[in-house]
Amino acid sequence: MRLFTTTAGLHCYLDLYRHPLKIGFVPTMGALHAGHLSLIQHARRDNDRVIVSIFVNPLQFGPTEDFQQYPRRLEQDWQLCEQAGVDAIFAPAPEEMYGMRNVGRTLAPVPDSQLPIPNDLTQVVPPESMTSLLCGRSRPGHFQGVATVVAKLLNLVQPTHAYFGEKDAQQLAIIRRLVADLNLPVEIVGCPIVREASGLALSSRNQYLSAEQKEQASVLYRGLQQAQKKFKSGDRDRIVLIEAAQKEFALVPEVQIEYIELVHPTTLMRLEKVDEAGLLSIAARLGTTRLIDNVTLRDRQPILAIDGPAGAGKSTVARTVAQSLGLLYLDTGAMYRALTWLVLESGTSVKDEPAIAELASGSQIQLSTSDDLQTPVRVWIHDREVTQAIRSREVTAQVSAIAAQPYVRRELVKQQQRWGVKGGVVAEGRDIGTHVFPDAELKIFLTASAQARAQRRQQDLKNQAQPEVSLEQLERDIQERDTRDSTRALAPLRKAADAIEIQTDGLSIAEVTAQIVSLYHQRLSVPV
Ligand code: PAJ
Repeated sequence: MRLFTTTAGLHCYLDLYRHPLKIGFVPTMGALHAGHLSLIQHARRDNDRVIVSIFVNPLQFGPTEDFQQYPRRLEQDWQLCEQAGVDAIFAPAPEEMYGMRNVGRTLAPVPDSQLPIPNDLTQVVPPESMTSLLCGRSRPGHFQGVATVVAKLLNLVQPTHAYFGEKDAQQLAIIRRLVADLNLPVEIVGCPIVREASGLALSSRNQYLSAEQKEQASVLYRGLQQAQKKFKSGDRDRIVLIEAAQKEFALVPEVQIEYIELVHPTTLMRLEKVDEAGLLSIAARLGTTRLIDNVTLRDRQPILAIDGPAGAGKSTVARTVAQSLGLLYLDTGAMYRALTWLVLESGTSVKDEPAIAELASGSQIQLSTSDDLQTPVRVWIHDREVTQAIRSREVTAQVSAIAAQPYVRRELVKQQQRWGVKGGVVAEGRDIGTHVFPDAELKIFLTASAQARAQRRQQDLKNQAQPEVSLEQLERDIQERDTRDSTRALAPLRKAADAIEIQTDGLSIAEVTAQIVSLYHQRLSVPV
C-alpha cells in the first residue's frame, strides 16, 4: 500500500496505470479566427490529440447581451479545425450541456433571461475578489457562467492541457484559480494575443464593426502601447500609466472607455504601483460593440533561451554567454543532478516514479553564479550545498533515468519557470524557447552538421582518454539521436518560430559566444 502527501505523487501513481495520451483542449464559442487558431496550433504542438469545443454558452451572457446574435457558423469552423489538424470538435446543444434531458428536470429558464438554462443548476462561483472588478463589474454573473461551463467542459473532455488566450486575461486568471482551487488535473496554458496589423486584437465580436470602426478601435492598442512605453522608461505608478493610455484614447472619441484598470495578473488585485508585474486592462464601447484588450507590464530582466541538438555546444556556450553578460546560467542539468542526488541520498529506488515525483514536488533547488571557473554554478538542494556531490559517479549513472520521468520534468520545469519570473537567466536545452520560456526575449537555436558534431565528439573522447570510435559511427549515432530527440514524447527537440538559428560549423566557442552577446545587445538595446 502507498501513502502520498503531494498531488504530484498521487497523479504520477495514477498515470502509471492509465498510460495517458496527451490531450489538448481548446474551449471556444466558435466563429473561429486566427486568435482561436493560434491556441489550436499551441495545442497541436504539445499533444497527441486536440479537441476543440464550440459552444455559445447561455450561462455567461447577461439578459441584455448578444446571446441570440452571437455568430454561429459551424460549417466554416469545421473546415478551419480540419485544416488546423484538430482531431475532434465537441459542439453540444444547450440541452445537452445543461442536462434538461435529465428526468425530473424542468425546462424553466433563468428568470428574466429567457435563456435555455435550468434554474436549479449547480454552479461554480469564483472568488468575488476576482469577479467584482474589470469586466465582472458590468457583466454580473458572467464569470460564474464561464467558470461553470469550463469546469463542465474540463470534466467532459478530461484533457491533460487546456489552452486559453491572454486576450481574456481576467477569464484566464479566474480559470487558473478554479483549476488550482478545485485541484482539476489539467495544465492551463495561456497563449499570447493575436492582433490585426493595426494592433486591434482579434475577436469574434469584431464582425459587428464596420471597416471605419475597426480603424478607430485600433486606438485601444496604441493607448496600451503608450502605457507600456512609460513603463519601460521606468514609470511604475498606476495614475501615470493609465493617463498615458487615456491621452491616446482621447484622440478617438467614438471609442468610449468603460474602464481602464491596473491589477495584478494572477490575483487581479488592484495595484497602485507595479512591482513585479501588472495587467493593464481595458474595455470600451464602439457603437453597440463591446471590446476588450490588455497588456502585461512586467519588470523583469531578459531571458535568453538556447536550444539545439545534442553536441552543438549548447551548455558551454550558455555558460560563457551568461558569464559575458553577467546573467545566471540556469544549469538545468545541475537541477536534475541535484534531484538525483536527493533520490539516492534518501534511499529511494530510481524506479519508484511516484516516490520520486513526491521528492521532486517538495524539492527546493537553488543555483548561484560563482567565480570559480571549475564550478561556475553552485548548487543547493534543501539548503545543503551539493555542487561537488552532484558530479559523483553514482549521480552521473542515474541522472538520465530520473530526468526521463515525466513528473520529474514537470516539477523541475515549474522551478525553472520560477527563476524566469525575475529573468536575468540564460537557459539551454531542447524546448526552452518553445515550452519552458516561450516568452524569452532572445531565442537561439544552435545547430551544427552531424559531421562537425561527430568531429567534436571524437575530440572530446580523445581529451578524456576514452577508446577511439570512428567518425562514421559517431555520425550515425548523432543522426539517430537527432531523430529520437525530435520525435520523443517528453520534451521533443523543437525550434521556436521566433528563434535565431546559428550554424556553428567551423566556429569556435568564443566566436559563437560573441555572436550571441552581440545579438543580445542589438535585440534588447541594453546599455553595454
Ligand atoms: P471565445 O471568445 O470563443 O474564445 C475562446 C478562446 O480564444 C479564449 O481562450 C480566448 O481568450 C481566445 N482568444 C480569443 N481571441 C483571441 C486573440 N485575439 N488572441 C488570442 N486568443 C484569443 O472565451 C470564450 O470563448 C468563452 O468564454 C469560453 C472560454 C469558451 C467559455 O465559454
